[in-house]
Amino acid sequence: MKKHNFSAGPCILPLEVLKQASEAVINFNNDDLSLIEISHRSQPFVDVMNKAQGLVKELLEIPKGYSILFLQGGASLEFLMVPFNLLKKGGKSAYLNTGAWAKKAIAEAKGFGQVEVLGDSSDKNFNYIPKGYTITNDVDYFHCTSNNTIYGTQIKEFPSCPTLLVCDMSSDIFSRKIDVSKFDLIYAGAQKNMGPAGTTLVIVKDEILGKTGRNIPTMLDYNTHISKGSMFNTPPVFPVYVSMLTLQWLKNNGGINWVGSINQQKADLLYDEIDSNPLFEGTANKEDRSNMNVTFLLTDSSKEVKFNNMWEEAGINGLKGHRSVGGYRASMYNALPLESVQVLVDVMRKLANN
Ligand SMILES: Cc1ncc(COP(=O)(O)O)c(C=O)c1O
Repeated sequence: MKKHNFSAGPCILPLEVLKQASEAVINFNNDDLSLIEISHRSQPFVDVMNKAQGLVKELLEIPKGYSILFLQGGASLEFLMVPFNLLKKGGKSAYLNTGAWAKKAIAEAKGFGQVEVLGDSSDKNFNYIPKGYTITNDVDYFHCTSNNTIYGTQIKEFPSCPTLLVCDMSSDIFSRKIDVSKFDLIYAGAQKNMGPAGTTLVIVKDEILGKTGRNIPTMLDYNTHISKGSMFNTPPVFPVYVSMLTLQWLKNNGGINWVGSINQQKADLLYDEIDSNPLFEGTANKEDRSNMNVTFLLTDSSKEVKFNNMWEEAGINGLKGHRSVGGYRASMYNALPLESVQVLVDVMRKLANN
């Protein structure tokens, strides 16, 4: 039996994907060779890359004119590649500061030009999504983080944007329907809803590139990777393969509509318990609550040891909150079944009834 894995990332992946992946490490395609000991230029791996890119396009209904890349360096490298590739010499960018990851993205952009912070929720330890700001068209791009993994907030409606719209979707990509045509660049580390750490998905509109007047180092230039079909250098073959398997699992089960509806059920189940159980309180503003990462506190700290023992005994893993918020964080990525959330809710009820 697998544990009920609420880890924030790296996190739960479908068991059948893990089984297929482990088989491929020993014997890929029944060729008596491991996936990780064949050339990335061989047809079997080229097929994997093509299939992974095709599944991203299909699941997110990506229109023509976008490229799909599987890069390395994590979402953290994108914090720097975005301004390198989009911020014009002497230009300005705009950011929304919704947490630790946004702050890191802002810090990198400052090395390339002016940064306007249009909204900032640091005054309340990032427990809400700033609203009511205006994006002007004199900035080269606007950057936001769709889901704030640490604080449990999520942008429910993206702003209308008169300039390029760039989004870090590391912790909610493939979890709900999005209209990709509204975005110019999306990036996401694989290690939440896609696969193992080690690759970063980048979805970029081709026509926005090559306009900064900057000299971009080869490996940091999106055009380098686009021109070589994401195979300029050796790609991270294992993370790309597992991502392909996870996306195939998602497609086979009904795609984004299917998973979006289950994710909503999971979030409703847990938030309802938090709101009705006097021993718990949520930390995020209700209207901005994330469906992926649910952050909550115990109202009675004398129950802490008991609660921790109870959820551990129930086979739950990874429920401790991030140190900057404290309390608990239940990360409920795509592969976490509704039954696991029910197990957690049952423990919370039992604690209140004891
Ligand atoms: C929203 C968000 N952005 C960026 C990152 C950083 O990703 P990486 O560790 O792949 O650089 C994380 C990691 O958890 C994240 O949750």
